[in-house]
Amino acid sequence: MWIIVSVLVITTKGHDDFSIEEATIESIQRAFAEDKLTSLQLVDLYLNRIQNLNPVLRSALEINPHARVQAEEADRQRRSNSHHPRSFLHGVPMLLKDTIATDDKMNTTAISYALLGSVVGRDAGVVEKRRNVGAVILGKASLTEWYSFRALAKIPNGRCARGGQAQNPYVARADPCRSSSGSAISVAANMVTVSLGSETHGSILCPADYNSVVRLKPTVGLTSRAGVVPISSRQDTIGTVADAVHLLDAIVGFDPGDSEATSEAAQFIPDGGYKQFLNEDGIIGKDWGLLEQEGRV
Ligand SMILES: *[C@@H]1O[C@H](CO)[C@@H](O)[C@H](O)[C@H]1NC(C)=O
Repeated sequence: MWIIVSVLVITTKGHDDFSIEEATIESIQRAFAEDKLTSLQLVDLYLNRIQNLNPVLRSALEINPHARVQAEEADRQRRSNSHHPRSFLHGVPMLLKDTIATDDKMNTTAISYALLGSVVGRDAGVVEKRRNVGAVILGKASLTEWYSFRALAKIPNGRCARGGQAQNPYVARADPCRSSSGSAISVAANMVTVSLGSETHGSILCPADYNSVVRLKPTVGLTSRAGVVPISSRQDTIGTVADAVHLLDAIVGFDPGDSEATSEAAQFIPDGGYKQFLNEDGIIGKDWGLLEQEGRV
């Protein structure tokens, strides 16, 4: 079941024994607080990992030329006011699916050469929110071109004109599934802590399942779609891959750029956010099943 291709067995020991393999937002924030890790060191660990793995996995499409600067800024803020309560995402690197607009040096193309070099006028609503909490944008994640929505015949999942065919990190020939495949693969292979994807119909749920990472597809309107390449106004939603609750808390809420959907959903966001509902004992007493098919698991 848990076959890890040998290419992934790369030592990623960081500083003072901090390891980015399966690092969580909480373990990273602890390492920051204990001065065992800086955001800049973390970004460099991930960049190194991307350099090693991306030629095979092809899930990271572009690196933000300002990622290291943003990390240094987060480190400076942490040093200057160490007791100030900060967002859980402060100084934490994230990848954005290449359909989520950024007003910076990166391209936003839905993977298509047709949009390469086009300039977007402002950050997507969810990106503005991340800037407010001080997360570091590491880069853009690949996806199935145009969400596989413009093809008459179905194009292979993870097929990306600009970056090449993305690959499932657990089973090389397995399907990476649906369009947020780059977001899911990157997290699964520890190329970034968290990533944002989007879903119209299975595009977060399926790649997260096939690449073995936690995901959350929010109700439409809980997160803003402003500045995100659309398919359906009734179904599109921006969601998270890995460490779902912290990321969700950072991106939910009203956005005038997508007021129709977000004004209605905003009234249901609980005071104090969603983290309060995490329950460590939540899986005790539950039954677990594993579906097997002959010749495949
Ligand atoms: C954006 O696309 C241009 C090509 O039009 C390329 O030269 C540039 O490197 C891309 N930006 C990043 C951050 O990769």
